[in-house]
Amino acid sequence: MCGIVGYVGPRDCSDVLVSALTKLEYRGYDSAGIAVFENGKIEVAKTKGRLSDLKEKMEREGKPQGHAGIGHTRWATHGEPSDVNSHPHSGRRVTIVHNGIIENYKQLKQFLLENERDEFLSDTDTEVVAQLLDFYYDGNPIRCIRKVLHELRGSFALGIVFADRPETVYAVRCESPLIVGQGQGEVFIASDVPAIIKYTKDYYLLEQGEIAVLKNGAVQFCTLHGRMLEKELKTADFDEDSAEKGGYPHFMIKEIHEQPTAVKTTITPRIEGGMPNLSECGITPEVLEGFNNIFIVACGTAMHAGMVGKYVIEKLARVSVTVDIASEFRYRDPLLTPDDLVIIISQSGETADSKAVLNLVKGTGAKTLAIVNVKGSSIAREADMVIYTHAGPEIAVASTKAYMVQLSVMYLLAFEMAYAKGRIDDEECKRLTLELVRIPEVIQHTIDRIENVCRYVSTKLITADSLLYIGRGLDYALSMEGSLKLKEISYIHSESYAAGELKHGTISLITDGMPVIAVATQNSLFEKTLSNIKEVKARGAMAIVICDQKADIGFDCANYIIRIPQISEMLMPMVATIPMQLLAYYTSVNKGNDVDKPRNLAKSVTVE
Ligand code: G6P
Repeated sequence: MCGIVGYVGPRDCSDVLVSALTKLEYRGYDSAGIAVFENGKIEVAKTKGRLSDLKEKMEREGKPQGHAGIGHTRWATHGEPSDVNSHPHSGRRVTIVHNGIIENYKQLKQFLLENERDEFLSDTDTEVVAQLLDFYYDGNPIRCIRKVLHELRGSFALGIVFADRPETVYAVRCESPLIVGQGQGEVFIASDVPAIIKYTKDYYLLEQGEIAVLKNGAVQFCTLHGRMLEKELKTADFDEDSAEKGGYPHFMIKEIHEQPTAVKTTITPRIEGGMPNLSECGITPEVLEGFNNIFIVACGTAMHAGMVGKYVIEKLARVSVTVDIASEFRYRDPLLTPDDLVIIISQSGETADSKAVLNLVKGTGAKTLAIVNVKGSSIAREADMVIYTHAGPEIAVASTKAYMVQLSVMYLLAFEMAYAKGRIDDEECKRLTLELVRIPEVIQHTIDRIENVCRYVSTKLITADSLLYIGRGLDYALSMEGSLKLKEISYIHSESYAAGELKHGTISLITDGMPVIAVATQNSLFEKTLSNIKEVKARGAMAIVICDQKADIGFDCANYIIRIPQISEMLMPMVATIPMQLLAYYTSVNKGNDVDKPRNLAKSVTVE
């Protein structure tokens, strides 16, 4: 989704803005632009396309020279990607960049048209805000911003410059995240900390309705009601290196390799005396004991982590778990009671639909637990309880390490809940926990063993138009993520299917050479899945099987076999995920796709 940056300080502002925007590329975008004060005048450079296109344009037409300004990467919502729809947008005296959506922009535009403001150039909701600011501007920027904020509906963040307030940047947050970085004699705004980590690790997190004024290398804050604020300076717990590729060709493969560390960092502080201990997150056996139903609600990959969570929690704790897609759950009038727990899983903590679910649950009496990676994000702050995953910044749009740590938390929670409900004794709980503690090593070993195999097998996928992922039980839950990973970055149509359901329709799609990736890691279901593999192979499919080292399967049943270490059936997803990630990655690489920034996708989906 859109990314905002801003700068006030001694450096070349255009360079800082472009460099910061580069770090936000992972969010997904289709155009880019900046506005910089040059000799007291606002100079704008913007274009459809990539930041490289913007740089080329500035080389051709001149780069704005100055020390204060704002910048933007746009992910089109209102109006197609084009030069004119790109941000910044300007009124007569005001120029802005905007992230999010203004829901009532049509009414506001109508109001402006009726008041003789007919200078609209673009199709965007953003330009309406620029014109509205301009309409109300009486020489007092804060008063004008406050007035306009009262009229806007939606979730958004803005970076604003006023032509008669040179060297000053204004920023405001209404739902969409925005931080203010504080360096030595320089200040920044950004949608996300990685954008400015190269310059400073110190930042302020803007809260709902707060306005920041950046001037003379310093920042001042006030509320929507005009009250001055002192804010707490935070320090990022990662550095530039962790937000860089570190020698890997893509963020995605770097993040796949970071998984052993990410899991270790996530689970280690939550284990005490060999038992899971989530009390620092407000989750004790007494709290867990009280819940009768669990709802896991999320989007995309995070929802798939919830699918695995469902199997594990139900199996161990014998508590009913419903998994739902946030955009569906929020509109289906769910039945919730105070004895229910709603778990919201989100890497970014800012996904619009997941956030909306959190608000919907409030007032039903049900408790909310957020499992979130980004510290201080909206979902983390608004839920009753939060378990942070410690994956570090995830930059590739296709999520890998965030999924893996979400799985690890699902297991910890399932163990603790099973123990709290008296379904397992402490000996069993310790045994399971110990196995989880050993997982990072197994993940490392798996990556080392199979990366080349997956690279090779992926060459067999690149010509496919369509493929199927199949599995049973936990393997089915897992194959949903495998299928999503593959389709989102390789652009090959892929569906995941419960292996036993194939013959009720989908098997008719099998044609000669069509790849079918079967996940068969569940020993108790192996024979059944094997029959389904034979069925598709007999109909001409190219069967690729992911199974453990000891699985009894030969090349009469499968064209390619990817063997992974054998651990207990229940924990297999944490290992079986690896070949799926690697297959997706190398297929995308082999097809020459933009692996980290797949077309049309955004890392953090802050619109409905
Ligand atoms: C987007 C991302 C996915 C992610 C989903 C949910 O679609 O591309 O990778 O799984 O949003 O995001 P969240 O931040 O809530 O986990």
